[in-house]
Parts: sequence; C-alpha cells; structure tokens
Amino acid sequence: MSQQREPVRYLVFSASLRAGSLNTTLAKLAASAIEKHGGSVDLAEMSAFDGPSYSQDVQTRDGVPSGAAELRRRLEANDAFVIASPEYNGSMPGLLKNLIDWVSRFRPQPFNGKHALLLSASPSMAGGNRGLWALRVPLEHLGSRVYPDMFSLAQAHQAFDTQGKIASSQLADRLDKTIAGFMDLAEAAKHYPCAKTAWIEFLGEHPNSPIDRVDKPAEPA
Ligand SMILES: Cc1cc2nc3c(=O)[nH]c(=O)nc-3n(C[C@H](O)[C@H](O)[C@H](O)COP(=O)(O)O)c2cc1C
Repeated sequence: MSQQREPVRYLVFSASLRAGSLNTTLAKLAASAIEKHGGSVDLAEMSAFDGPSYSQDVQTRDGVPSGAAELRRRLEANDAFVIASPEYNGSMPGLLKNLIDWVSRFRPQPFNGKHALLLSASPSMAGGNRGLWALRVPLEHLGSRVYPDMFSLAQAHQAFDTQGKIASSQLADRLDKTIAGFMDLAEAAKHYPCAKTAWIEFLGEHPNSPIDRVDKPAEPA
C-alpha cells in the first residue's frame, strides 16, 4: 500500500456478459490495484444486473427488475464505482444503457453524487475510448462525478500476459496511476467535505445554488 488512506468502498464491474471478456480481465486488474492502494472492493458481475428492456409499462406493472435493484443496492453500499465497458459501434453496449435507464428510476436516484472511473478494453487501436465518451453523458446527466482521466486498453486481445496483467510496464503503470488519482479524489470527497464542495462539474456555469450540482457535505452518520 503506497499511503495511509481513510476507508473508501469501490464497486467494480465489467459491462460485458461474455465469458473470456477483455473488459472483465481489466475490471479484475482494477480491483487488485484498488486493494493494493488501500481501498475495499466489491467486484460484481454484469450478469447480476441483467434484465429486460426498459418499458414504462413494465415498470408500472412489475416495478423495477431485480437486476437493476441489485445495482442500486450495490451503488448505495459503496462510495464510488468503476466500470470497464466494451465499445459497441462507437458507443456503450445497449445492455449498459438499458441498465442505467432502469436504475435512474429509483428515488433517491442512486448515481447522484457518486464518483466514477471509466475503463475500456478493445482489440482496436483506440481501445474502446469513444464508447467511454458516450458513457459519460448519462452518468454525468445523473449527477455522477465522472473522473476526467479514463483508461482505454488498445489491442487488448494481445495486451495481457498469462496472469491477466498488462504486459507493457508503461501501460500497467498508467493504469495504476489513473486508479490512484481517482482514489485520492474519492477519498477526499468522502472524508474531506471542503474538497467536495470545490468540485464544480460544469466549468462554464457560475457556481450558484440554483444551477450548480455540488451536493452539500453529508452529515456524519
Ligand atoms: C456489436 C458489436 C459492436 C462492436 N463495436 C466496436 C467498436 O465500435 N469499437 C471497438 O473498438 N470494438 C467494437 N467491437 C469489438 C469489441 O471491442 C470486442 O468484441 C471486445 O472483445 C468486447 O469486449 P469484451 O471482450 O469485454 O466482451 C464490437 C463488438 C460487437 C459485438
């Protein structure tokens, strides 16, 4: 562990259902790095969150499905979250957007105020990075504080060694530093509320109470 930290809990999951998923390998690496840096990890499988296509009729008739309720439960049980997401057609996979849409129907809305780190892995040269820009939009719309740096692993089908680690030491170091930086922010947001109120999401807007989206520091439990 590189430094003494206050306790912070991280939900980590891959948005792929595929056995042998590159993004699941990356999610597991991120989970190990978080633990190495002193965070606690709840590593989830996307299958735990799977469910039907969103329909307001289904919601009215049956309520929110169990997979979405499970993601809500785990978002609430953790302080921050990390998603390793495939890129499908230059965007996020439909199943991930569908899940976000379902979870957004809960009140209080579970993504609001949670710090998020986005990762991707793809066989392409861009590593699925375009998909993460698409993923930022609904998450930021819902009030998640999406970390400015993202990590995308290009040519991921050749990038892991036999232990599931990133073979290039330069890229492995970059992932490690991105995660450590995110953890600094998540820790500050939870434990040092003065830093939290300094986080202004829309730089073009004046930080005044009617329009800013900065939460008041939570009362200590
Ligand atoms: C429907 C579909 C669309 C895809 N579109 C893209 C794409 O736009 N960019 C990209 O880099 N890879 C794309 N891919 C390839 C995925 O990156 C690749 O299948 C990857 O292994 C999926 O992630 P996983 O291994 O975590 O399941 C696509 C794959 C599928 C099935």
